[in-house]
Amino acid sequence: MRDAVQAVEEAFRQLAEGQVQMPPRQIMTAPERSGWIAVMPAYIRKTKALATKVVTVYTRNPSLQLPTTIATIILNDPETGRLLAVMDGGYLTAVRTGAVGGVAAKYLARSDAQTVGIFGAGIQARAQLEALCEVRHIKDASVYDLVPGAAEKYAEAMSTKLGIKVSAAETSRDAVKGRDVIITASTAKTPVFKGRWLEPGTHITGVGSHIASTREIDTETLKRSKFVVDLREAAEKEYGELLIPLHEKSVTPSIIYGELGEIVSGQKNGRTNPQEITLFKSGGLAIQDTATARLVYDKAVETGIGVNIDLQ
Ligand SMILES: NC(=O)c1ccc[n+]([C@@H]2O[C@H](COP(=O)([O-])OP(=O)(O)OC[C@H]3O[C@@H](n4cnc5c(N)ncnc54)[C@H](O)[C@@H]3O)[C@@H](O)[C@H]2O)c1
Repeated sequence: MRDAVQAVEEAFRQLAEGQVQMPPRQIMTAPERSGWIAVMPAYIRKTKALATKVVTVYTRNPSLQLPTTIATIILNDPETGRLLAVMDGGYLTAVRTGAVGGVAAKYLARSDAQTVGIFGAGIQARAQLEALCEVRHIKDASVYDLVPGAAEKYAEAMSTKLGIKVSAAETSRDAVKGRDVIITASTAKTPVFKGRWLEPGTHITGVGSHIASTREIDTETLKRSKFVVDLREAAEKEYGELLIPLHEKSVTPSIIYGELGEIVSGQKNGRTNPQEITLFKSGGLAIQDTATARLVYDKAVETGIGVNIDLQ
């Protein structure tokens, strides 16, 4: 995760410096199955990383004992176009989404942040906590989930893995009260907490929702926050967190303070004082997959992991 946070941070820097090609992702839906399907290509020039991810998010999958997010990544050599690797992208999606949360917290969370409240006890939420612990000295995490037992299971697994206190919150309010950082990584379609509960100095990272008609974060939170997105163009097209209040005419597009890349590259400030409430919304960008896939490939070659296949 530490390496992934660095790789994703570098990808956002290059994005802001114009060193990236990333066409908007192509999206299809299978509404009869609550399914979402996307194709996500990107080329990160200085990292020499060129990849395409095909990803599906089927929110009813857990009832079939299948993961919600399933993906495959194809990595090419940008010098020749040659296929370098085909890799599973499910775990990698969680890692790269965790990594972007880590990058956002590095620049936006208070440097003395120690506590976190987490909404959703699924795969993304695990990677989010892991990445947050790479950039801040987190001592105490509280997790809230609607499914009985899910938060307890998460708490047990994550406290063992990270060696910090992780407990299940009884109510959504408990997961917000006294928390320095809040992470939303659920499959909720409507806001999971109320913006008026937020205390000064909180940082929020939202990764769960990614379509125009759903959101995990309410208008009040947006209005109270320095609002940063991964990509303005994607936010204005796909993110319910922005599009729902825009449609209701309760905010204007100027509510977006900036993009994460602008902050990482020093074009804009991150957090400027301990009282500020900061909000980072990620819908997920192909550069995160591409940067992480290149990292995985290089490590696999270095350590001799993987299987050689001949497709010709
Ligand atoms: N931003 C990104 O780049 C990115 C990447 C991958 C997945 N996602 C999204 O992240 C979300 C979570 O994905 P996952 O793979 O961890 O799914 P998951 O099914 O493993 O976990 C989601 C959890 O959220 C819980 N939940 C639903 N409504 C809730 C509520 N109101 N309050 C608290 N918990 C609630 C569910 O019970 C479930 O345990 C999905 O919506 C997915 O589309 C985003």
